[in-house]
Amino acid sequence: MTSTHQGKICIITGATDGIGKEAAMHLAGMGFTLGLVGRNRDKISSTLAEIQNATGNKHITFFQADLSLMKEVRRLAEEIQSTFDKINVLLNNAGAYIADFEKTGEGFERTFALNHLSYFLLTDLLLDTIKTTPNSRIVNVASDAHRKTNLNFDNLQGFNGYKGWPAYCKSKLCNIMFTYELGRRLEGSDTTANCLHPGFVNTSFGNNNRAGIRLGLTAAKAVSAINVKKGAKTSIYLASSSEVEGVNGKYFAKCKPKNSSPQSNVIEDQKRLWDISEQLLS
Ligand SMILES: NC(=O)c1ccc[n+]([C@@H]2O[C@H](COP(=O)([O-])OP(=O)(O)OC[C@H]3O[C@@H](n4cnc5c(N)ncnc54)[C@H](OP(=O)(O)O)[C@@H]3O)[C@@H](O)[C@H]2O)c1
Repeated sequence: MTSTHQGKICIITGATDGIGKEAAMHLAGMGFTLGLVGRNRDKISSTLAEIQNATGNKHITFFQADLSLMKEVRRLAEEIQSTFDKINVLLNNAGAYIADFEKTGEGFERTFALNHLSYFLLTDLLLDTIKTTPNSRIVNVASDAHRKTNLNFDNLQGFNGYKGWPAYCKSKLCNIMFTYELGRRLEGSDTTANCLHPGFVNTSFGNNNRAGIRLGLTAAKAVSAINVKKGAKTSIYLASSSEVEGVNGKYFAKCKPKNSSPQSNVIEDQKRLWDISEQLLS
């Protein structure tokens, strides 16, 4: 195990599958103490056993939460804080493409709630702990899919017309705009916030949808997706590499900073999204 990471605490959401699970496996091998978040009890048990058997790392705690529900995000944050008194890395990774409109019991559109509001709220609730941990990092998994859209602040949650793929793209644009605004707010502290595009990765992404969509995605993945080991590289890099110590407020792909779309860089829009998110969660 790499001793430089021994004793460092890394929280990863969406750790029971795909990119998050692969990142968890790798970071466990590097010696991190992990706080992993999953929603399905059976997948949590099997993932925990798999990571522990493969790496020998016993410092892994799993938390269960449906991150599309803000009451569960709040409970999760409390559980994390009563388990760990510091957080070196928060990797907001859980996300989904939800083809059909769904409103959660809390009245939010589910894609927006899971992919954006959960990143925003979990980060906010853990921020004091993160900021008091030296050289801490917040890493948000976004996507190049954000380039295909712009935010319409009058229909942020698709209540006046919802299309699944554009809603997903908008939520990933939110991840980037949130990261940039957060990065600015963190200036002068030794906590950093960065976001990333993992590539088009052969994971379970999209499998929650109806058969036609699953079939289309499976075919596209077979033709052009990279494997999950490659797909987790930038997440692992931003969570652990000394090369990015002090690097803040950037969008990465293939472990290198990259420009994001024009709207993602509009500071006024970043602030507006922040304010609206805060109001929705107040
Ligand atoms: N795959 C790609 O090509 C690609 C490209 C760009 C960006 N991304 C982003 O990468 C991130 C990870 O995606 P992936 O490809 O690894 O997908 P994945 O294989 O489907 O894994 C998603 C993870 O998020 C969890 N999750 C989903 N809904 C949840 C909920 N309501 N509450 C709590 N956890 C939930 C899943 O839990 P279960 O195990 O219980 O399902 C799983 O652990 C996402 O943010 C996605 O937007 C992926």
